[in-house]
Amino acid sequence: MPKISSKGKAMPESPIRKLVPYAEKATELGREIFYLNIGQPDVKTPDVALQAVKNNTLDIIAYSHSAGNPSLREKLATYYAKHDIHVAKKDILITTGGSEALIFTMGSITDPGDEIIVPEPFYANYYSFSTQSTVTVVPVISKIEDDFALPPIADFEKLITKKTKAILICNPGNPTGYLYSKEEIKQLAALALKYDLFLISDEVYREFVYDDTEHYSILQEADLKDHAIVVDSVSKRYSMCGARIGCMVSKNKKVIATAMKFAQARLSPPTYAQIASEAALNVPDSYYEAVVAEYKSRRDVLVNGLQQIPNIKVSVPRGAFYCIVELPIDDSEDFARWMLESFADQNQTIMVAPAAGFYSSLNAGRNQIRIAYVLKKEDLKRATEILGLALKEYLAR
Ligand SMILES: Cc1ncc(COP(=O)(O)O)c(C=O)c1O
Repeated sequence: MPKISSKGKAMPESPIRKLVPYAEKATELGREIFYLNIGQPDVKTPDVALQAVKNNTLDIIAYSHSAGNPSLREKLATYYAKHDIHVAKKDILITTGGSEALIFTMGSITDPGDEIIVPEPFYANYYSFSTQSTVTVVPVISKIEDDFALPPIADFEKLITKKTKAILICNPGNPTGYLYSKEEIKQLAALALKYDLFLISDEVYREFVYDDTEHYSILQEADLKDHAIVVDSVSKRYSMCGARIGCMVSKNKKVIATAMKFAQARLSPPTYAQIASEAALNVPDSYYEAVVAEYKSRRDVLVNGLQQIPNIKVSVPRGAFYCIVELPIDDSEDFARWMLESFADQNQTIMVAPAAGFYSSLNAGRNQIRIAYVLKKEDLKRATEILGLALKEYLAR
């Protein structure tokens, strides 16, 4: 038989989806499952976006410009200006989701064997995309005790080698919910300039910020003009995950010109979804305010519920819609599987993501789970009750 590549073998399985067969089985048995494992928002997509697709008069679903529709890029520049990010249409490349923006970024700035330093735990697909690009992710450990704040800059410096090309952060963070302060971003900016590294910031959760704090983008740092690359997406912002529209933003002309070659090779981003994404930019500020208020109250319900469970550690998320929880167990994957296979309370159970998949350091995160708080408040309250009961029974086995 012809052989599968070693790269193919090295591609990690999604830590979020790998328990799906167990969930399917539980559903077949008639159990109700509260899904806390995946960040698919349940908020309705803005009507303007849906209507723009329904009402459009296209005769041909043609390829668009490889960099994306000029009108969408123009409008995005206006959106960024509102966030004090001053970029032009030429600095923006529309991609098929933030995912493709990450792939184009890695493709444009790294060679096989190069290294990217990433605070750990990190969005699991960073590992998948880096495997695809044959780049090594070098983790710098952030700690639950500090709510996953930026590790000391000296820890980054220890990891910098000749092969280091970039530092990649997620702000606010998936899976940590941590929001980097302006001060932390400034420290990273200074580091990137000192060692002449790219600073990549995944800002797909930019609006999801709670507690009256403000998001500070790396693109607000004027000195980082040649070093900053932002990855963005409509998936979470407008609850449009299936649209598959994101973008890469950089003032570095060479980076955008290089990414453009990758963009040309895949011809164009999706046509209808660009129409929807452009229309979504018309939503009034009240849309974001309502969505953020809803997530903030969900966060409060979740954290409150979790804090009732004895002997667990919760890092209070300040942004995005994820939370890492440390449990008094050794193997959270076993626990997550057990909750689907062998546990129910009133015929209900929960599905969580074992956190080890968000770490690349050996054995790290094995006593942690990630919870996505994308459910209604009453469901989240019930889900935390189930977690408490399940943990008690699991520990007593
Ligand atoms: C941190 C982060 N970055 C990027 C993505 C990719 O988003 P998409 O490709 O849907 O734009 C996700 C999706 O969950 C994410 O959580």
